Amino acid sequence: MEKLLIRGGKRLSGNVKVSGAKNAAVAVIPAVLLTDEICIIDNLPYIDDVIVLKNILSELGAKVSLSPNGRMVIDPSSVKRYIANSEEVKKMRASYYLLGALLGRGGYAEVAFPGGCEIGARPIDQHIKGFESLGVHVDIESGSIRARADKLIGNDVYLDVISVGATINIMLASVRAEGTTTIVNAAKEPHVVDVANFLNAMGANIKGAGTDTIKIKGVERLSGCHYTIIPDQIEAGTFMIAAAATNGDVLIKDVIPKHLEAISAKLVEMGVDIMEGDDNIRVRGCNRLKSVNIKTLPYPGFPTDLQQPMSVLLSIAEGNSVITENVWESRYKHIEEICKMGANVKIEDRVAIIKGVPSLKGAPVAASDLRAGAALIVAGLIADGVTEISNVQYIDRGYECIEGKLISLGADIKRIDDMGRIIPTKKSAAVI
Ligand code: EPZ
Repeated sequence: MEKLLIRGGKRLSGNVKVSGAKNAAVAVIPAVLLTDEICIIDNLPYIDDVIVLKNILSELGAKVSLSPNGRMVIDPSSVKRYIANSEEVKKMRASYYLLGALLGRGGYAEVAFPGGCEIGARPIDQHIKGFESLGVHVDIESGSIRARADKLIGNDVYLDVISVGATINIMLASVRAEGTTTIVNAAKEPHVVDVANFLNAMGANIKGAGTDTIKIKGVERLSGCHYTIIPDQIEAGTFMIAAAATNGDVLIKDVIPKHLEAISAKLVEMGVDIMEGDDNIRVRGCNRLKSVNIKTLPYPGFPTDLQQPMSVLLSIAEGNSVITENVWESRYKHIEEICKMGANVKIEDRVAIIKGVPSLKGAPVAASDLRAGAALIVAGLIADGVTEISNVQYIDRGYECIEGKLISLGADIKRIDDMGRIIPTKKSAAVI
């Protein structure tokens, strides 16, 4: 098991380039199964989740290549298998997109129950409700979900909760269905729009992505295409928080500033200086951060995926801050770890009450999930002394070459193996 060792106290400065969006990538890659023609996808983040999906598509019979510069070439013409139940499938939450994609391809899918981060109950009832509305019969048996339909027929689907996964999965299943599907109360996240744009580039007819009503007119066939994934909103937000936390001055490049409005607004409220360019954001810290209150919400609200890193920033702000986590019921596992580093936080159900302290102290801590890992990195960058973060595999699932990028900004970070030997920093195409 690898660990990160961070000697805190360095101000981050310079330029960093954001990679492609993980949560768009993990849907776009399975979506290729909806055609028999070659697709070329650019700007994929070179992260473990993308590598796992490459392996899953190969297991299904596709020919796939992935280069470290983020290009994947997929030829799905030889896919004959509609059962995905390997260990690779069980590793990640987003393997549920294989259900929608395989249903759309051939009207049948058998997929092992998805794994992923432990951040609370992660039901898929809305995905199933959507499939059933399209005429799909769904069975759940011994750890697998089996879905089959003689014919997929478009219908209206009203989501009871705003769900990114259900919105995308219903788009995947309905894009080649007969007639029109309307998703009401759809998720509006940038990656929902990116997946719709990808499907439209393949010849689909999807309108309204990015609003709460999406209309999908079924088409008979989809073709191959060449597509570039949008930048990762959450990775960009993580760098913004890290820059602010170290009182740094960082230009975050290749971003879509509109996607970052909720985080920019909160940082400005805290006293941080934010300058938006066309495709970049400059973040300049301040000497004393002010406390703020945060409520996580679906887009365009404050993203739950940045709640954990943000709570670390608030732990060193002046005064009391209150976070209300409205999306996931168990997304505070990192708090116990940052309290070991001197933070003063009380959790009451979905609310975290944070009393700002002047500084944190380095300590051995463990990441419990992807964004908890990102939060602990931010804590390590701030802390006096050395922070040792274990369970780095969670971070590698979703951040491309995180320590390489932070080192390029002046951070002091090393990766060590279980024998304590230093592992050379991976080069990322995105490190400049
Ligand atoms: C996506 O998860 C992201 N993952 C998550 O990011 C992110 O936290 C989440 O959306 C919210 O933005 C991927 O895109 C792979 P949801 P998803 O369905 O789609 C409830 C990260 O760190 N719900 O939008 O699984 C659910 O319990 C990860 O990158 C149902 O009740 O989330 C939750 O409270 C972690 N029934 C809320 O909806 C359902 O059928 C939102 O979940 C589905 C969801």
